[in-house]
Amino acid sequence: HVFRRFPLQDVRGIPLMEPIAQQWGLIESFQARPDDLLIATYPKAGTTWMQEIVDLILARGDTAKAHRAPTHIRIPFLEICSPPPVPSGVTQLLNAPSPRVIKTHLPFQLVPKTFWEQGCKVIYVARNAKDNVVSYYFFDRMNQTQPEPGPWPEYLQKFMDEKLAWGSWYDHVRRYWEERHNHRILYVFYEDMKEDLEREITRVAAFLEQPLTAEQMAVVVHHSSFEVMRDNPMANYSSIPTAILDQSISPFMRRGEVGDWRNHFTVAQSEAFDTHYRHRMGDAEPHFRTRL
Ligand code: PPS
Repeated sequence: HVFRRFPLQDVRGIPLMEPIAQQWGLIESFQARPDDLLIATYPKAGTTWMQEIVDLILARGDTAKAHRAPTHIRIPFLEICSPPPVPSGVTQLLNAPSPRVIKTHLPFQLVPKTFWEQGCKVIYVARNAKDNVVSYYFFDRMNQTQPEPGPWPEYLQKFMDEKLAWGSWYDHVRRYWEERHNHRILYVFYEDMKEDLEREITRVAAFLEQPLTAEQMAVVVHHSSFEVMRDNPMANYSSIPTAILDQSISPFMRRGEVGDWRNHFTVAQSEAFDTHYRHRMGDAEPHFRTRL
C-alpha cells in the first residue's frame, strides 16, 4: 500500500488530509440512519477512550462481545480514506448492520446533514487545549499519514493558527457546545472522565438508555482504564501496521493524563498560549471557556 504523509487540502475552509478532500463528495452525501450513534471529537481528545466505553456499555459488560475486533473495525471512522484496497470509512459503514457506532473528527458544520435530519445521538468529547495539542504533536510524529509535525514550537504555533488537520480546535469544541441543545448531543469533558470515570460512564449509559447494573459498571470501568486499554490489542491500535502508526516513535496509548502539557510547554509558550486563548475564546460562555 502506498501510505505517505498526505498534505492538507481545504474543504469548505477546513484543512483535511488530501485523500479525504478528494473523496469529499462521498463523505458529504453519507446517509445516516436514525439509530446511528456518532462519537465526535477534535483529534486526540479521548475518542478511543469513549469508543471503548460505548462498546462496553452496548455489550452490557460482555467483554468477549466488546472485544470482538480492534477499535477501528468495531467503530468505523467516517471520513477516513486510505489508498485501496483498504476500505474507506464510508464503504465500511455501508456494509455495517444497525445500530452503527461511528467515529468522526469533523467539525460540526462538516458533519453530513443526514445525521441531524435523522435526529442521531452524538457524544462529543472535549479535552483542554494544552494537553490536546501535546497529544496531537506526539501523534503526528508517529502517524506516518499525517503531515510532518516539524519542531514543537512551530507545531504549537500551527495549532494556535488553526492550521492543523481537522482545523481549528477553538471552533470545534465551541460549536458542538453551542449546538448541544439544538440536537441530541451529550457533551463530555476528558478531565471529568479522569476525575470520576464512573460518574461519566453513568451519564453516557443514561444517554444511550442502557443503564448498567453495578456488576456491569465495574466491568466497564475496569476495561476502560488507561492501563487495561494500553495492554489490550483490541483497544491500543497495535493491529495497525507500523508503516501507518509507528508506535516505536510514540505509543498510541501514550500518557493518558491531565496536565502533561507542563512537561512540554516552556513558561513563555504557556503565557503566550494563555493570552491568545483568552483573546480567541474571550466571548465564549465563561464556565465553558475556563474549563478547557
Ligand atoms: S484519535 O487518534 O484522535 O482517535 O486519538 P484519541 O483517542 O482521541 O486520543 C488519544 C489520547 O487519549 C488518551 N487515552 C486515554 N486517557 C485516559 N484513559 C484512557 N483509558 C485513555 N485511552 C486513550 C491517549 O493516551 C491519548 O492521550 P495522550 O495524552 O497522548 O496520552
